[in-house]
Amino acid sequence: MKKRLFSGIQPSGDVHIGNYLGAIRNWVRLIDQFECIFCIVDYHAITIEYDPKDMKKRILNAAAVNIASGLDPGRCILFVQSHVPEHTELAWILNTVTPMGHLERMTQYKDKSRQHAENINAGLFNYPVLQAADILLYKSDAVPVGEDQVQHIELAREIARKFNMRYGEIFPEPKEILSEAPRIMGLDGKTKMSKSLGNYISLIESPESIRKKLSAAVTDENRKRRTDTGNPDICNLFTLHKYFSTKEQIEYVQGACRTAEIGCVECKRVLSDNVAEALTPVRLRYEELVKDPDFLLGILSEGAARCKRMAEDTMGDARKRMGLL
Ligand code: AMP
Ligand code: TRP
Repeated sequence: MKKRLFSGIQPSGDVHIGNYLGAIRNWVRLIDQFECIFCIVDYHAITIEYDPKDMKKRILNAAAVNIASGLDPGRCILFVQSHVPEHTELAWILNTVTPMGHLERMTQYKDKSRQHAENINAGLFNYPVLQAADILLYKSDAVPVGEDQVQHIELAREIARKFNMRYGEIFPEPKEILSEAPRIMGLDGKTKMSKSLGNYISLIESPESIRKKLSAAVTDENRKRRTDTGNPDICNLFTLHKYFSTKEQIEYVQGACRTAEIGCVECKRVLSDNVAEALTPVRLRYEELVKDPDFLLGILSEGAARCKRMAEDTMGDARKRMGLL
């Protein structure tokens, strides 16, 4: 029997190369090794201000971009969180074994309350409990995520332990799986690449736009003139070379930057070409997929039906242990 793997992504804007390198690439790699469930977490996305008019499109786009990146729906389950109401039902139960103090310590909650000071709602506070419910509802063992989610997975383990201690063992303790690029920095070189900060290259960015964004991206800030030598070790774009360029190109730009044989313009040209080449097939497949919303809806509704059966089993089990009628 394969172990079960679960991960989620918010439908809250463009999926970017940070999401891909930090999480989605691992999802694709692990797809046959585990029984995989991937979830578009719309109930998480509503904890910050959004326009209801756009949500349907954002969910379908998230499905399309994930399929285009390699989540073959024939080999995994892809579904939308709100289509399986047991997620929120289990979240309510798990709230009752989650200490407030643990939620107060969550850095994502602290960051988001700073960013959205006008709308610090209880959903934002309880967000990690819903995330724990997502994972535990399917008794998942493995959760491939970027580094920013590790604290939430630790809390999910703690919640599983607390539930099991009080009501009996039903939930395995899930473990995070990190990729070799667990935290990709944004093009500003200062903060994590993120949907909300706009400092990203999306997976469906056109080659022209990739070129434009990279040409404005921050490199080694000590290198002011073309003739100055540079230091790849502190250049954010050199990190991206490591994931998109060939071994020879990486060695070349590294050496030629240190000696000022090439400038940032030339280095960025090599990187732009490689990023554009890697992303073009994803963009083309995405464009095909979004032309056919019925096809996407079919995949999502089949995914939800399969999840629903597992979710009902877990909830039946949990209710019984809790002494509910
Ligand atoms: P989100 O867009 O917040 O729903 O994130 C989806 C997945 O991408 C999660 O597993 C995140 O941890 C991961 N992720 C988001 N931003 C980055 C980043 N800059 N570097 C690496 N992983 C990331
Ligand atoms: N909170 C995650 C993020 O922002 C998304 C998410 C929701 C998730 N539920 C999950 C990730 C369960 C892993 C497992 O990226």
